[in-house]
Amino acid sequence: MAPIHHLMAHFPVALLFLALLIILIRAFFDTPAIRRIEGVLPLLLILGVAGGMATFVTGLFIWPNEAITSSPMGRNKLLMAAWMLAAWSVVTLLRLRGGPALWGQEGRWPLVLMSLIGGVLLATTGTLGGYLLGSPSRFSDGLRAMGWDVYHTYFAPNWALGVAVVLALVIIGIGFTRNPTNN
Ligand code: HEM
Repeated sequence: MAPIHHLMAHFPVALLFLALLIILIRAFFDTPAIRRIEGVLPLLLILGVAGGMATFVTGLFIWPNEAITSSPMGRNKLLMAAWMLAAWSVVTLLRLRGGPALWGQEGRWPLVLMSLIGGVLLATTGTLGGYLLGSPSRFSDGLRAMGWDVYHTYFAPNWALGVAVVLALVIIGIGFTRNPTNN
């Protein structure tokens, strides 16, 4: 499964980084050519997230589950890949629901922020993949400068997970109760 995983990883990396570039350009510039290029964004995002899911699944079959969850690097890879997919799924939903009109409103800034987070998580996921097969990269120097050494994992206490779930439910609740005509 490892060779298929190496092959599949190119899809999310190429498609989602291209999507990030287009999002950043479109957030600051508004010309007819850039609007036309932005038209490809929904397709790029859908293919990128679908490719990411396929890469995720192939990754799970490379090592036995016990090996992945007991190795700090394996756990980090699993966590980063899951968060990365979550971030890009949110970006995709925002763009699909908002349509091109999203760029004319304040709604573009959550999209930009979420895609930047997704970009950093994608770079980190790929970097950790390199470490797992024995080719470390200089990207981890940047992560270390920000206070995280990729060789160490971390554990969230159960109460922190509980708080995260409650916060997520509150945010979803606010989303459902908010009247879109008050925007
Ligand atoms: C969308 C999510 C993922 C991306 C973008 C990704 C990306 C990568 C990349 C770029 C490599 C290095 C490949 C190379 O240099 O040729 C790699 C290797 C690896 N990945 Fe992933 N990966 C993802 C998800 C996962 C998951 C969920 C797991 C399992 C927990 C995993 C486990 C591994 C392992 C064990 C290796 C080393 C393979 C080897 O020794 O040959 N990956 N990954």
